Amino acid sequence: MSLRQKRVVVIGGTSGIGLAVALAAQADGASVIVGSSSEAKVAQSAARIPGAHAHTIDVTSEDSVATFFDRVGAFDHLVFTAGDWGQFGAGSAVDDIDVDKARDLFNVRFWGALACVKHARKQMRAGGSVVLTNGTVAHRPRRGSPVSTAMAGAIEHLVHSLAVELAPIRVNGVCPGAVRTDIWNSIPADQREARFAKMTERQLVKRIGEPAEVAEAYLYLMRGGYTTGQILIVDGGQTAV
Ligand SMILES: NC(=O)c1ccc[n+]([C@@H]2O[C@H](COP(=O)([O-])OP(=O)(O)OC[C@H]3O[C@@H](n4cnc5c(N)ncnc54)[C@H](OP(=O)(O)O)[C@@H]3O)[C@@H](O)[C@H]2O)c1
Repeated sequence: MSLRQKRVVVIGGTSGIGLAVALAAQADGASVIVGSSSEAKVAQSAARIPGAHAHTIDVTSEDSVATFFDRVGAFDHLVFTAGDWGQFGAGSAVDDIDVDKARDLFNVRFWGALACVKHARKQMRAGGSVVLTNGTVAHRPRRGSPVSTAMAGAIEHLVHSLAVELAPIRVNGVCPGAVRTDIWNSIPADQREARFAKMTERQLVKRIGEPAEVAEAYLYLMRGGYTTGQILIVDGGQTAV
């Protein structure tokens, strides 16, 4: 089964993993619509994904989400890869957590995903699916990561619950390990490769993943008509050892 004649919406599709999903879905025959909050990134999509439609959407605003899906109209598959570190950054030890800033970490990735599913659902055709995104911190907590671990775990539970609630629409999730995208741009460019090597040295596949490698998982979950309520881990074996 291919994505020919399917309409695929990728929220977060202007960068990183979402951009790779948009390109792979288009190569598989889909008509692609990407959305994200920055007008500059949305404008760049015309060159990065020729033929795709791109609109702005701020997933932290329910009005913005509703407007976006009204504009998109009927479609088949929703992929959600939007993510940021919010005001909270990469994390803090419990004693240092600013609880108001910590709440912010859920805004894009958890509440944003839920808002998109809520407003997308009315536009989704029979046979469609939803694919959300979390991360291996859900399964491999590090010191200083209680909030990001809880947020990533909450997305997995959201996937399982939505799969029950939205059936026969299928709902799945992808759980990436370390992947080379702009999300790591806070690391100075001249230190990035060394950090990637350090981060991945204990993995079975001892290197950082490329966005196109992770995009394969989203394509499988969109095409795999007998798969729902699942989380597909793509992490170079990080969580296998
Ligand atoms: N890369 C990794 O190593 C890794 C590992 C584990 C999990 N993940 C997860 O995978 C997902 C994708 O990450 P990535 O690495 O592809 O990051 P990325 O390259 O930074 O892409 C993030 C995307 O989210 C969009 N976005 C951010 N805030 C938004 C908002 N309020 N409304 C709509 N769109 C918004 C961004 O566009 P705008 O700036 O235009 O809004 C961008 O298109 C994230 O949830 C991330 O946590 C990534």
